[in-house]
Amino acid sequence: MLTSFVLLSVFLRGVVGQFPTACTTAQALKDRRCCPQWKDGSMCGVDSGRGRCRFMHQTYSDKRSYTQPNDDRLDWPHEFYDSVCVCNGNCAGFDCGECKSGFRGAKCTEKKTIIRREIHELSRQERLTFFSYLSLAKLKTSARYKILITGNRYDRNTFRFVEASVYDVFAWMHFYSFAPFLQNNMFDATINLAHEGPNFLPWHRWYLLFLEREIQILTHDYDFALPYYDWSMDGRTCSICTDDMMGKSDNQGLLTSSSYFANWKSICSGFNYPNKYCTDAEDKCRMEPLHRNPGADPNNRQLDSAQQVEDVLQWKDYDTPPHNSTAKHSFRNCLEGFVDPSSGEVTRRSLHNLFHMYMGGTMSLVPLSGNDPIFLLHHGFIDK
Ligand SMILES: *[C@@H]1O[C@H](CO)[C@@H](O)[C@H](O)[C@H]1NC(C)=O
Repeated sequence: MLTSFVLLSVFLRGVVGQFPTACTTAQALKDRRCCPQWKDGSMCGVDSGRGRCRFMHQTYSDKRSYTQPNDDRLDWPHEFYDSVCVCNGNCAGFDCGECKSGFRGAKCTEKKTIIRREIHELSRQERLTFFSYLSLAKLKTSARYKILITGNRYDRNTFRFVEASVYDVFAWMHFYSFAPFLQNNMFDATINLAHEGPNFLPWHRWYLLFLEREIQILTHDYDFALPYYDWSMDGRTCSICTDDMMGKSDNQGLLTSSSYFANWKSICSGFNYPNKYCTDAEDKCRMEPLHRNPGADPNNRQLDSAQQVEDVLQWKDYDTPPHNSTAKHSFRNCLEGFVDPSSGEVTRRSLHNLFHMYMGGTMSLVPLSGNDPIFLLHHGFIDK
């Protein structure tokens, strides 16, 4: 597990958001360099003091000793690049052109707090604005990022970068984190980059910040904050599963046609091919619509209550050995939802995991779950 934590740290540090379009050109891939020009014309904005293009040392010095091919996420980002932008101060982003969350201004020195609110507290107008931002993020092809697809993970010649909207880039990232780990030419089920370990909370926090920032950039609304959904008051009824909120589903599990998200389709629907990445990314006809069945699964009918949310806060150790889904008295493991939050040791599906299973459909399939915008609201609450 420590290994995957290290991997994750590398994953986060290297390239912010995979993959910046400027780094998917034949030249960038040949030079093994992901150092886009900022608007001052210099790589990583070096002439303006924002950052610089730096060679990254390999963490896994023995990587070359593995039988090729191995997982492209191992020793990130060296499968693709040896140099990436390293930003100064509060500058951030793949070209150091953005500011870290919580900062703004020409030099990213001004502190700025934006507050995420519970979705029921938004006015109708604010909610409609949120939905229109989501539609734009879902529909507009991103000029900033592409996604990686493969016909065969064992064959680098089948790797391709294709266009996607920024919401689909977001959904793809969750898929990418969850693809089975390939090592020594075999799948290693003990490595999970974003779940079942200490990385769960920081990975998902950074993941929400990514989309929040990209929506800000897309809409030029730098005060935009993702809302969250506190399901702990709801018991058995999903109060946001209505057509004026996140959408109602019919008895087939499809969103009703009057839902704002009725036409959304899941990128990477054909996720159940361990040896391929996201084969349906260019073919909307093959992508499945969103599915939900809130409360329909007899084993996951009742959401955890406010008391259970309080209970998780009693665990003062962020995580405990063996740092996986069996960890006892671990804040992370209780919140992630493998263990009952009051005892800290009884195995049961709780909090985070329970909500995913309660929703059923797209939300209950980890590789696809980021496709459903309810994911944002749920994880915003977990992140709180
Ligand atoms: C958790 O870690 C322990 C110790 O490394 C290992 O024996 C066990 O199989 C792991 N369990 C899971 C579900 O990963």
